[in-house]
Amino acid sequence: MGRQLLLDKVNVAGINTYDVYRKEGGYRSVEKALKKMTPEEVLEEVKTSGLRGRGGAGFPTGMKWSFIAKPEGVPRFLLCNADESEPGTFKDRYLMEKIPHLLVEGMVTSSYALGANQGYIYIRGEYMYVLRILEKAIAEAYQNGWLGKNILGSGYDFDLAVTCGAGAYICGEETALIESLEGERGNPRIKPPFPAVKGLWQNPTVVNNVETIAAVVPIINDGGAEYAKIGIGRSTGTKLISASGNINKPGVFEIEMNITVEEFIYSDQYCGGIKNGKKLKACVPGGSSVPILPHYLVCKTAAGQDRLMSYESLADGGFATGSMLGSGGFVVYDEDQCIVRNTWNFTRFYHHESCGQCSPCREGTGWMEKVLHRLEYGHGKMEDIDLLWDIQRKIEGNTICPLGDAAAWPVAAAIRHFREEFEWHVNEPVRCLEKNYGLVAEKVFEPVTA
Ligand SMILES: Cc1cc2nc3c(=O)[nH]c(=O)nc-3n(C[C@H](O)[C@H](O)[C@H](O)COP(=O)(O)O)c2cc1C
Repeated sequence: MGRQLLLDKVNVAGINTYDVYRKEGGYRSVEKALKKMTPEEVLEEVKTSGLRGRGGAGFPTGMKWSFIAKPEGVPRFLLCNADESEPGTFKDRYLMEKIPHLLVEGMVTSSYALGANQGYIYIRGEYMYVLRILEKAIAEAYQNGWLGKNILGSGYDFDLAVTCGAGAYICGEETALIESLEGERGNPRIKPPFPAVKGLWQNPTVVNNVETIAAVVPIINDGGAEYAKIGIGRSTGTKLISASGNINKPGVFEIEMNITVEEFIYSDQYCGGIKNGKKLKACVPGGSSVPILPHYLVCKTAAGQDRLMSYESLADGGFATGSMLGSGGFVVYDEDQCIVRNTWNFTRFYHHESCGQCSPCREGTGWMEKVLHRLEYGHGKMEDIDLLWDIQRKIEGNTICPLGDAAAWPVAAAIRHFREEFEWHVNEPVRCLEKNYGLVAEKVFEPVTA
């Protein structure tokens, strides 16, 4: 197991409580930042660390922070994105549930760098029990002087509250999150202006993922340069990966990003290999939005290099032969899984979650779902495969927010790498149905409207 910066204390009994967290060295980053550093110095450390946003896009955190506008007399906000609704991703939940004070600590230190005096943790509605855990941690932090007025006598004030959504994936998109926090329907805004200029109530705002904010704690404790030594290239530090699917050891792992995908899947320290001794068929390395990789591109790049668990290596080859690290939702498929069924399932999700503002996404996700449904249930035609390809191309890049892209990419990659399987659904629908559902075909033939 590589270095653990976020989960190193996860197994310490009572680490979810303030007393144990503090005894184990908690809130040192706040002490260091507020007593010994200027906000600019904290920002510099984060820049030096090379930390990239852990919410999916991998944008450099220090650079994002440096964009925040600082007009005189205008409040600034730090929002923590704890919406975590991407299928396959459950790392933020684990972190908040096990070590809630790490996030609270990261919020204080990060807000100090930004000059923000108010922060909100926006958590998805389904994580209600985690919201209670965070509320308790925040109350403890107030009681012990880490939140509120004049923290540690530094003259710096910071208030933190946790607020919950109602279970909409779109509210994880940062401007939809802001709308939702303002009490509006969670519709993404047209950018620019970006939140760093006009965010919450039109004030300068930074939105960061839970893991990004937590990572600021070890960066300030040990220094950005130490953090940057871990990992490889521009993939510095550690990354939380939530691993699921047909593997022996599903769960959340903290990895150094220079390990190979092969090691991650097959080593007992991580996923422990494919379940029941089956063969690897495919892998979605970064949550449902990223392109699926067929088995021969999972552990090796198209050029035959070992594929690493890094931003760059997972993206090697572009979308033709690569994918993305995304949110770290790593889903493994064995030889028995049906890619058409999986693609239909993902598409159903995106259609359901589309906010409906942009017609390519609102209509296109619905059409894709319909076409995939009829392919899956044995009513598909060969032309449907090209129709699907055409629809996804018309969605990608044509929407206000990237939910449209997120819906298009999995469909494109599935057709690109598994066209034969789509064709098999057209040519041998009865056998496909029997394989996927173990039923006599006639019983599951449903009427599907064109
Ligand atoms: C539809 C959609 C859903 C998203 N959901 C999340 C989410 O649940 N959590 C998250 O951190 N980022 C999510 N993002 C990305 C955010 O818009 C934003 O980039 C991120 O919170 C920035 O934080 P980071 O720089 O720390 O990664 C989502 C984006 C889109 C388009």
